[in-house]
Amino acid sequence: MAIQFTEKQTRVLEARDHNILVSAAAGSGKTAVLVERIVRMISEGERPLDIDRLLVVTFTRAAAAQMRERIARAVSDRLREDPSNAHLRRQETLIHNAQITTIDSFCSYLLRNNFSEIDLDPDFRVMDQTESELMSADVLDSFLEECYQQADPAFLECAAYFCPGSDDRGLQKMIADLYTMSSSRPQPEFWLKQRREDYHVESKEEIFTSLWLQTGILQTLEQLEDMDRQYSDMLEICGEPDGPEGYAALLTLEQDSLFGKLRQEPVLSIRQGHSGSLLQLAGSLDAEQAKAVWDLISGLGGASFGRLPALGKKRYPNVSESKKNRVKDRRAAIKTKIASICGKYSESSADLVFHTMRAADGPLRELVDLTLAYAERYRQAKREKNLLDFPDLEHYALQVLLDFHEDGTCTPRPAAMEYRRHFAEILIDEYQDSNDVQELLLRTISTEDEGRNNRFMVGDVKQSIYKFRLARPEIFMEKFDTYRPLDPRTERIDLDQNFRSRSQVLDSVN
Ligand SMILES: Nc1ncnc2c1ncn2[C@@H]1O[C@H](COP(=O)(O)OP(=O)(O)O)[C@@H](O)[C@H]1O
Ligand SMILES: [Mg+2]
Repeated sequence: MAIQFTEKQTRVLEARDHNILVSAAAGSGKTAVLVERIVRMISEGERPLDIDRLLVVTFTRAAAAQMRERIARAVSDRLREDPSNAHLRRQETLIHNAQITTIDSFCSYLLRNNFSEIDLDPDFRVMDQTESELMSADVLDSFLEECYQQADPAFLECAAYFCPGSDDRGLQKMIADLYTMSSSRPQPEFWLKQRREDYHVESKEEIFTSLWLQTGILQTLEQLEDMDRQYSDMLEICGEPDGPEGYAALLTLEQDSLFGKLRQEPVLSIRQGHSGSLLQLAGSLDAEQAKAVWDLISGLGGASFGRLPALGKKRYPNVSESKKNRVKDRRAAIKTKIASICGKYSESSADLVFHTMRAADGPLRELVDLTLAYAERYRQAKREKNLLDFPDLEHYALQVLLDFHEDGTCTPRPAAMEYRRHFAEILIDEYQDSNDVQELLLRTISTEDEGRNNRFMVGDVKQSIYKFRLARPEIFMEKFDTYRPLDPRTERIDLDQNFRSRSQVLDSVN
């Protein structure tokens, strides 16, 4: 019952020696082609690879075990047809120690082999999620208790600012969240220290270059782009043979008055220079661009909606009721959304934003410093018991592989060069669940920085489930936007056929 691979799947199996991103929905055979690709790499061609020259990363241990088993089965199938093949015979042995693994297990392996590089006691034990959550909550609890006892004015101001009222669990949660966010970054401390400046503004003009304001307006801009597209969809419905043609004139007017500026300078060039999520640009717009977006949004307050003409059944018997309603409902939803956006922006004039940021500046700095102090305590507590949590595994692994410099850049260490020589290709399943740490780690082990792309990534952006580990689907999206079909260095292949539903149907029939 060999699978008949589709043309696109075959391309995935045969492409070699460059970065490949396979993007497709669940059930389209991503994992199946990943497994088949591995099997072919270790059994076909002039110089088939040894399986231990591949690094295969999955997101759960169960998935890793299943993958190992499927590869082993494929190898023994091929051996049955070609019993004298010594290379295949060797794969049967090698597969037991091959790196088909989760990122955490790989980091753990890496640390056990390189502990002396970073002064790590090799007898470390890795805590599971529950254990580390309990321990970190304990440390934070007693840390905050001390802070309250010492009653430092900066601390009390911070607590009062972020968590007014008597409930101090709010502050606890803010510190814990900030800490968790930092730990999904390659350099948590460096990242945290940068956050100190997030609300810092000297003048009213400066609010427009702040990360905080730009995040807000870019988020809104994306919503507006979406509404703009919905207007185009509605107009398309109006143009259909049984569509409510009579709505078209008003909808065209409204689309133009609400969203026309999206297609004009200077907003136009923000979008044109960037194909992914606009949020990635937060903090990098210049003041003029940000001001233009701000004006566009606050200008929506003046937009007026007309009345859709009545298209009664008697006079317009050919117009579909359901199409009429679809357009009406969508337009009503947009109207509501616009009203809520205007509510936010008209009230918070630039002055108000300025004063809000000024007021939050000191408390934010204190919050960051508290988080840094707590992080240090938690680190000490773990050191004392020689315990690591999951983010530690990744961060210590990074330290084995990279030297980090003051300015936030990093350079590979000897261990990285060794892994680069060893692994011929790095294959990653469920790539949409990567975070910045994993991305840097795997890129460092790849030979990308030496000009030889050797990463194979499969994923589905609609399926980002590991939110608790702060997956950043943008990592996937960025490649999705820049990789191209048949590109000799960075190729994107979309699989568009779905098999799971069909095979599940067959399963239930059989
Ligand atoms: N070309 C194909 N023909 C028939 N079945 C296929 C084909 N490609 C994949 N499948 C089957 O579809 C199912 C889903 O594949 P899987 O690799 O798990 O998808 P994904 O990883 O994209 O969710 C599996 O049972 C797989 O064997
Ligand atoms: Mg899969």
